[in-house]
Amino acid sequence: MEAPRKSLLKLKKKQIAIKVKGYRPTKDSEPYFQEYKIPLKPDMVVLDALNYIKDNIDGSLTYRWSCRMGVCGSCGSNVNGKPKLTCETFIDDVGDNLTVEPMARFPIIKDLVVDIDSFMTKLKDVKPWIINETEKPIEKGENLQTPEQVDLYKQQSMCINCMLCYSACPVVGTEDDFIGPAALALSYRYNMDSRDQGEKERLKITSSEEGVYGCSWIGECTSVCPKNVDPAIAIQKLKLTGSLQTIKELLLPKFVK
Ligand code: FES
Repeated sequence: MEAPRKSLLKLKKKQIAIKVKGYRPTKDSEPYFQEYKIPLKPDMVVLDALNYIKDNIDGSLTYRWSCRMGVCGSCGSNVNGKPKLTCETFIDDVGDNLTVEPMARFPIIKDLVVDIDSFMTKLKDVKPWIINETEKPIEKGENLQTPEQVDLYKQQSMCINCMLCYSACPVVGTEDDFIGPAALALSYRYNMDSRDQGEKERLKITSSEEGVYGCSWIGECTSVCPKNVDPAIAIQKLKLTGSLQTIKELLLPKFVK
């Protein structure tokens, strides 16, 4: 006889316990776990469980979410110790002892909501937009690209700024100023865009003390990315380009623009 599906086995229990880390800075000296019992529904994701708690048990529980479909990047949390989008994480897939905590490496504002100001500053620092002084005006038509030109940056352009890679990165945990995986990957994405002329400007930032050379190439950023962006490889490529640029400036200063 065919073995019953894991979800059907769980549904027989009808209820699961979920531990959610809570923290109210005005009241609590440190974060603590609260346990809630919730009814299990078929194909329930972790965000559904949080919404059930908020609607039915504890209206003060605070967390971020918006699109519910892995696009806005706002629902990141540590689920059973791993950085995940709660809207895409099926309870069936994470085991019985479900714990939800705020993303690691970020200061907690309240419960699962973390302070992302430092990430927003780092993101802006790498200028993740097209820089092109000579771009033709829109009235003169689109700036077309070939499929091959798009392929050069497409993977890195899938980033949704969910910051799971920061939560997973050991260097972010020890070096506050490290620019970090997503911002560096986006810098690489714009450098590779045929419409862009800002590579040299960005390299000054990404090859600085806070930039790519801080990366120890553990690769956790790439393994947790829900969109298959590969910050680890983007960072290694930026290291190579930055090093070649430095060598050129040292050996051929007159010829480097
Ligand atoms: Fe938008 Fe999860 S709610 S990515």
